[in-house]
Amino acid sequence: MPNLNSAFTQIGRGFAAFLAPPSPDVIRFTVGQPDFDTPLPVVNAAIESLKRGETTYTRSQGSETLCQAVSEHLSKFDIDVDGNDVVIAPGCKQALLYSMMAVIEPGDEVLLLAPAWPSYDGMIKLLGGVPIHVPVHRPNYHPDIEALRNAVTSKTKAIVINSPNNPTGAVYTSDEIQQLVNLAIDSDLWILDDMIYSTLVWGDNKYTSPNSFEGGPERTLTIGGWSKGWAMTGWRLGWVAGPTEAIEAVKTCQASSATHVATFLMPAAEVALTLEKEIDAMADSFANRRLMFHEGINSLPGVSAPMPEGAFYILADVSGTGMTDIEFATRALDEAKVQVIPGSLMLGGDNLIRMSYATSLEDLKEGIRRLKTWLIQIN
Ligand SMILES: Cc1ncc(COP(=O)(O)O)c(C=O)c1O
Repeated sequence: MPNLNSAFTQIGRGFAAFLAPPSPDVIRFTVGQPDFDTPLPVVNAAIESLKRGETTYTRSQGSETLCQAVSEHLSKFDIDVDGNDVVIAPGCKQALLYSMMAVIEPGDEVLLLAPAWPSYDGMIKLLGGVPIHVPVHRPNYHPDIEALRNAVTSKTKAIVINSPNNPTGAVYTSDEIQQLVNLAIDSDLWILDDMIYSTLVWGDNKYTSPNSFEGGPERTLTIGGWSKGWAMTGWRLGWVAGPTEAIEAVKTCQASSATHVATFLMPAAEVALTLEKEIDAMADSFANRRLMFHEGINSLPGVSAPMPEGAFYILADVSGTGMTDIEFATRALDEAKVQVIPGSLMLGGDNLIRMSYATSLEDLKEGIRRLKTWLIQIN
């Protein structure tokens, strides 16, 4: 067999090994998706579009009306981009890949705030770039600006920001975002701002865009999508918005690969952006669960976690249990029948366990009860 692209020897599949569906008696704190159905008006809009026969090739960038609707949605977050500078991609993940393709060349270094969602690392390596993992502060998981500044070299090309954050649950303050923008200006970096959890914020900090600060708009690609806030993970719909020249490159990426997202999904995505009460109800439900879950997790012997500020994850330190995170995750599955993600699957995540609270209150309570019984038993 001829040689494969050697990049694949260095790229993992993120959390995949610990996401495998276990037996039905296992409680899963692993799945990073809302436990709600997609709101019915969205589903109906897709069905109606199919009935109208909207099944042919269409505008590669995404329909004009949907790009305009995304532009209007972004304006609520202080992001001022023209509809023509928006591309609709097959998922936020693909939107991130296009954004990286637009700015990263082989050998370029890209700053990640560690522990970072593992797909960033894989995408950067796929493009021949070099991910540089810079640890965040403990225990609040907020950016260490000084450490980021020290990590910049002549090869640094971009920084990836994700707030609210997966896996940490942190939401960066407006002051922190401003400092990140300043750093990007001083070192002439692109900012890839993954805002996928922007509508899921629980604390005092709201999602703040780098576009809110002088010098931000010309160096920021804003990437987001419908998966988390609208319970639309399987629809594979995301967006990229940013400066015209960069978006022209993103349009070329899409035209050279996916062509466009499914034609009949676009009217549905547009309807999703008009919904308020359905979206708020889902967000409120997560906000309530996080209080109970945070309290429960901190009541486990040897386990502690800061209060999540957004998204639907808790990142807990399990070093007090005397187990590594891999040992904890493996034994929790075998002995307590609870599935969790070990943090060391991400650089900078040693001793940490990521748990999602996007599951029913009953399962959250039962999972905590099982973990507590197990930890008490083995001590
Ligand atoms: C930080 C982050 N960005 C992007 C995505 C991917 O979103 P999508 O499913 O729309 O590709 C995820 C999904 O887990 C995520 O956690």
